[in-house]
Amino acid sequence: MNPSTPSRYTTTAIALHWLLAVALVGSFSVGLYMADLPLSPQRVKLYNWHKWAGITILALSAVRLLWRLSHPPPPLPAPIRSAMPGWQRAAHRGLHGLLYLLFFAVPLLGWAYSSALGVPIVWLGLLPLPDFVPVDKAFADAVLKPLHGLGAFSLAAVAGVHAAAALKHHFIDRDGLLDRMSPFPRRNRFP
Ligand code: HEM
Ligand code: HEM
Repeated sequence: MNPSTPSRYTTTAIALHWLLAVALVGSFSVGLYMADLPLSPQRVKLYNWHKWAGITILALSAVRLLWRLSHPPPPLPAPIRSAMPGWQRAAHRGLHGLLYLLFFAVPLLGWAYSSALGVPIVWLGLLPLPDFVPVDKAFADAVLKPLHGLGAFSLAAVAGVHAAAALKHHFIDRDGLLDRMSPFPRRNRFP
């Protein structure tokens, strides 16, 4: 590789990756937990937190996408690239694309669900957000709620496969791929 070619993601991309990974795992877990609670002040509080976190994730995902478009990721190092069969290289690209799609689809479906229920969102209790779907409770419950859940479970599944693949590169192949996204790279393997 040309010595001037960057081998790691930018610091901003790495910070956004880990911040959003934690936020997404947290929102998914809170979503699962709150939906089964009996009606109570705690349930209302968790619903609000879940919505605020989801809107924050949506905004950060927009920043992340813009950053990604203006700062293309470093090319895969030749030894890793040549060790990957064609289907793995396609899966590597495809899973990242699918994750980006779900980063927008899941919170937007949650927002649409809230709008259709007629429950406006006031982000962090400060900023009222517009409702972009007309109030229709039957449509909200029959279509938007299951779609938001399905989107969230698909995101969890794709992220799980992604994380497993990254850990396999790190612990089994030991090829240094994780160093590209690690805040604490073990060493600069691809200077
Ligand atoms: C990426 C961010 C988000 C993730 C990962 C996520 C995940 C989840 C999950 C896993 C559930 C439980 C679904 C089930 O049990 O079938 C849920 C429920 C819910 N989410 Fe989200 N969500 C996100 C963003 C949002 C946003 C932005 C809103 C609204 C502004 C929202 C509103 C809701 C509501 C109202 C429920 C409860 C549905 C019910 O009563 O069963 N979510 N979410
Ligand atoms: C144990 C957990 C995780 C590990 C070890 C991990 C590791 C990595 C690594 C090494 C890369 C760079 C791959 C390359 O060099 O091309 C990457 C990229 C990425 N990861 Fe993760 N990841 C984890 C969890 C997550 C989670 C939970 C999400 C989101 C739900 C996520 C979303 C992404 C996305 C979207 C990219 C592509 C970044 C881009 O090209 O802009 N990751 N991850």
